[in-house]
Amino acid sequence: MKLNKKYLDDPREYSKKTFRVQWHLTERCNLKCIHCYQDEIQIKEEFSIAEIQKAATMLKKTIDKWNMLCEISVTGGEPFVRKDWFEICKMFEDLGFFLSILTNGTIMDEGILKKLKQLKNLKYIQVSLDGGTKSVHEKIRGLNTFEKALSTIRLLKKNNIRVATKFTIHKLNQYDLKTYLDLTENIDVDLISVARLIPWGMGRQIREMTMSKEEVKQAFELILSYAKKNAGQKLYNTRRPLWCLLKDSDTDLGGRCVAAYNGLTILPNGDVLPCRPMGVIVGNVLKNTFFEIWYTSDFLWKVRNMSREGCEKCNNYDVCGGCIAISHALHDDFFIKDPQCFKELIK
Ligand SMILES: C[S@@+](CC[C@H](N)C(=O)[O-])C[C@H]1O[C@@H](n2cnc3c(N)ncnc32)[C@H](O)[C@@H]1O
Ligand code: SF4
Ligand code: SF4
Repeated sequence: MKLNKKYLDDPREYSKKTFRVQWHLTERCNLKCIHCYQDEIQIKEEFSIAEIQKAATMLKKTIDKWNMLCEISVTGGEPFVRKDWFEICKMFEDLGFFLSILTNGTIMDEGILKKLKQLKNLKYIQVSLDGGTKSVHEKIRGLNTFEKALSTIRLLKKNNIRVATKFTIHKLNQYDLKTYLDLTENIDVDLISVARLIPWGMGRQIREMTMSKEEVKQAFELILSYAKKNAGQKLYNTRRPLWCLLKDSDTDLGGRCVAAYNGLTILPNGDVLPCRPMGVIVGNVLKNTFFEIWYTSDFLWKVRNMSREGCEKCNNYDVCGGCIAISHALHDDFFIKDPQCFKELIK
């Protein structure tokens, strides 16, 4: 399928037709956030740009066979610590991929900005904000990170680059959610995400900060009130597991996690996983063709076919299925009901 700019502006159409890849260019990072699903750097090997290109070319062949589009979310670690990040992005673009870049927003400068402006298929840059206030954000991300992230957002907006923000929510920052949502309005963020903590990697150390069902429900209700208020102006990432429980005719709620259905993750050494904090390697992009991994991995088929114990009778299953990474991180079992499912709390 040819890249068509209309898909940049029509998110519903775009998501139906788009395969999603999170490509971790590096595990290196200038920060050490307390919740990070990476452990201390484990993967020291990083593919060269030539190896990435070889793998990306194979991926593109499969995407073309499926007649789909593909968005590569360039991530890490911190993608901007890799000196050749721009050449890699340009190569992805030349191969016909859409791009997004996920960053902590602390190492932006005019040089990086100039390069970003040369990317033609860049959909957005996602900057992580783990608080609406400096103190909460920095409790999680470290000193001198909040103002830098905000000035990155302002700089990107000033230069007409779409900005997404992501808030990873848990008991240490849930009380700052409203301030975060207000802040995203003030600084005019285009796409607002709130994702639940997956206590994996370094995030295991704050495992007990995982929110209760009631807390998740309350947080989702608050986000929904903002989504309704700003409908048509801002996008809130509500097409995710559990959201269907808040049934609402005005907004687009609920959706399966794309991992193993419509997306995959690639690590700096080419290892492939359904999603980073699941921790299950299903192949390597230079040892197996992408096509082979997708169709022959037992684990990917299990994710697609195995029901989740406790979800059997749920009529939301097609638009939910829960977050199996959270089930695994908390209970060592992928195929059980999402531990934060608040269905029983809905009257
Ligand atoms: C791993 S980071 C990589 C990009 C960049 N370094 C950053 O912080 O945005 C991508 C996103 O994953 C989120 N994340 C990290 N650890 C997580 C966890 N244990 N559970 C859920 N999300 C997590 C981060 O907060 C960030 O928004
Ligand atoms: S969340 Fe991002 S910025 Fe924080 S330690 Fe992990 S990779 Fe680095
Ligand atoms: S029972 Fe399972 S499918 Fe139904 S809402 Fe809960 S987690 Fe989702």
